[in-house]
Amino acid sequence: MRPMDGKTALVTGASSGIGRAIAQRFADDGARVYLTGRRKDELEAAAEAAGPAAVAVPCDVSQAADLDRVMDVIRGDGRRLDAVVANAGLGDGSRFQDVTEEQFDVVFGVNTKGSLLTVQKSLPLLAQPASVILLASTTIHQGAPRMGIYAASKAAVRSLGRTWAAELAPRGVRVNVITPGPIATPAIDRVAGRLGLSSEDFHAALASQLPLQRMGRPGEVAALAAFLAGPQSSFITGAEHFVDGGQVQV
Ligand SMILES: NC(=O)c1ccc[n+]([C@@H]2O[C@H](COP(=O)([O-])OP(=O)(O)OC[C@H]3O[C@@H](n4cnc5c(N)ncnc54)[C@H](OP(=O)(O)O)[C@@H]3O)[C@@H](O)[C@H]2O)c1
Repeated sequence: MRPMDGKTALVTGASSGIGRAIAQRFADDGARVYLTGRRKDELEAAAEAAGPAAVAVPCDVSQAADLDRVMDVIRGDGRRLDAVVANAGLGDGSRFQDVTEEQFDVVFGVNTKGSLLTVQKSLPLLAQPASVILLASTTIHQGAPRMGIYAASKAAVRSLGRTWAAELAPRGVRVNVITPGPIATPAIDRVAGRLGLSSEDFHAALASQLPLQRMGRPGEVAALAAFLAGPQSSFITGAEHFVDGGQVQV
């Protein structure tokens, strides 16, 4: 018997990086997993890799109508959601003086509004008990240059996690926030590119600032998500869980 046999999960932003690793882990643990993302080919490749219990449903989490379609697919399959991971996210990397109104809208639209819409649209389908997992970032705890809008959008997510934990507890729904430090994903490689650095050099620079002296792996975030999704974390809600190599703890 695997830990998520018979369970159903939704993971947004599952075509890449951390979301893909979480979807893979849930599928390996026996769950039927619905994966979302905007890029159809990448999403279908991730679902295929995760195995026959994985279903790709293209969706932009900043668009309510897209999430309605995702829920229609899950409802049509006769499923209830035991776990929802609002993972889809992105950053902009601009200095404060250069941030545009459009960048602000895109980052808050995906990270903050996207998390809100994902959880809100999931509500009618949530099982009892169910686990909701949100993705924040260690940037909400440090003043990292060029990360202002991203960090603010993630601080809002962390705050929403507290409120939703209170509001949804009577329904048997736990809400927890995962706060990763630097994890080796395509998102980090894109930041390296914007800074004119090779991925290798950027990884080394980030790792040198961490007590554990290395980058995190997507699978290490997935392991925490698996714990938070399951009954072993049954008395934990509203909390923020760090998987950051000690970045903001030590
Ligand atoms: N990597 C890190 O060091 C780190 C640290 C702290 C927090 N995080 C957070 O962890 C989460 C995953 O990041 P990652 O590093 O794995 O990034 P990634 O490799 O770039 O993956 C991001 C995922 O989000 C999806 N996505 C982006 N915008 C979307 C939208 N509008 N609608 C639906 N899906 C969307 C992307 O798919 P499409 O492009 O196909 O839509 C992709 O699957 C994010 O919330 C990120 O902020 C990452």
